[in-house]
Amino acid sequence: MALPPDSAGRLVKSGLEVAVQRGAGLNAGFRDDAYAAVGATIVPDAREIFATGQVIAKVQPPTADEVGAMSEGASVISLMRPGQHQEIASVLARHNVSALALELVPRITRAQSMDVLSSQSTVAGYKAVLLGAAELGKFLPMLTTAAGNISPARVFVIGAGVSGLQAIATARRLGGVVSAFDVRPAAREQVQSLGASFVATELVSASAETAGGYARAQTNEEQERTLSAIAGHIKDVDLVITTAQIPGRPAPTLITADMVRTMRAGSVIVDLAVETGGNCELSKLGETVHAHDVTIMGPVNLPSSVAFHASQMFGRNILALLQHLVKDGAIVLDPADEITGAMLVVHQGKVVK
Ligand code: NAI
Repeated sequence: MALPPDSAGRLVKSGLEVAVQRGAGLNAGFRDDAYAAVGATIVPDAREIFATGQVIAKVQPPTADEVGAMSEGASVISLMRPGQHQEIASVLARHNVSALALELVPRITRAQSMDVLSSQSTVAGYKAVLLGAAELGKFLPMLTTAAGNISPARVFVIGAGVSGLQAIATARRLGGVVSAFDVRPAAREQVQSLGASFVATELVSASAETAGGYARAQTNEEQERTLSAIAGHIKDVDLVITTAQIPGRPAPTLITADMVRTMRAGSVIVDLAVETGGNCELSKLGETVHAHDVTIMGPVNLPSSVAFHASQMFGRNILALLQHLVKDGAIVLDPADEITGAMLVVHQGKVVK
């Protein structure tokens, strides 16, 4: 859900008119009356919203049908899957509907509150640990019981960006002993500040981080050293969460089938990079597979399984973006603006990215 009632209410208070499709928030736990209570209008038919809205906020990219129903000069804000959006971009341009891709929010401090990739990664990192913990035949915390002492589970997080750091924090809250690995130096400090240990400190290098804050692809030699460090560590852990990604490229393979063979029986891998090819050689998109007595999970779209808070965070990102874009009650799309310009993919009838 792109706009929960709290964010819709803030927009209404700022003087905008907000229309919400009937029942649109129900799956995330937001009833129509909650929208009505904050002054939004409930509209039975989505087509009416498309036809009359000056700004359409959605989670998923618009379909050609939806664009066809939008009025000329309108704007749509949604995920756009940049790189795969050519077809819909030309439909948007033809209908003179401008489009802002939420994936392209620049990674600058000023735009952090608008960054849905970060907010949804936070949700995914949290849920990945819960999924893995539920699959593991072990407790995460250390327990002292009348039936004897239980050692804490060992959790290993590979890729300590937004989702990885949330996975570390969640696993720590559940009492696991957590270690992590990333190639960026900033990640090492963040891992340690969360109380987890950092594996293979010597493999971190300042050049691993690009100007945009993301990791670059490793050279063959770096990749070999990474694999050898992970192979040395992974034998002794119970739960592995992998999140390593390189923008615009397939995710790096960091757990080979041979490594899985060396892991403890009953251990679990949750591969959060599965949608871009996966960090584990054996993971399968949307499936849970069992190999060498290890369970490998490849969950898709985890944020939708924590729909209330995922929507709340998404909605606050949209609210912050609209507060940036709306001047005197009208949306202003200035390509020279650092945030707007980075996000615009279609503007004034032209595909600009
Ligand atoms: P991501 O989802 O692209 O990748 C996840 C993690 O995998 C990253 O930390 C990356 O360094 C790591 N990784 C890539 N290749 C690896 C390999 N071979 N081995 C181990 N780890 C590998 O990145 P994400 O989580 O979206 O963001 C990365 C960083 O961007 C953040 O930690 C932060 O510093 C920065 N950022 C800045 C924002 C802002 O200023 N507005 C907002 C969000 C993130």
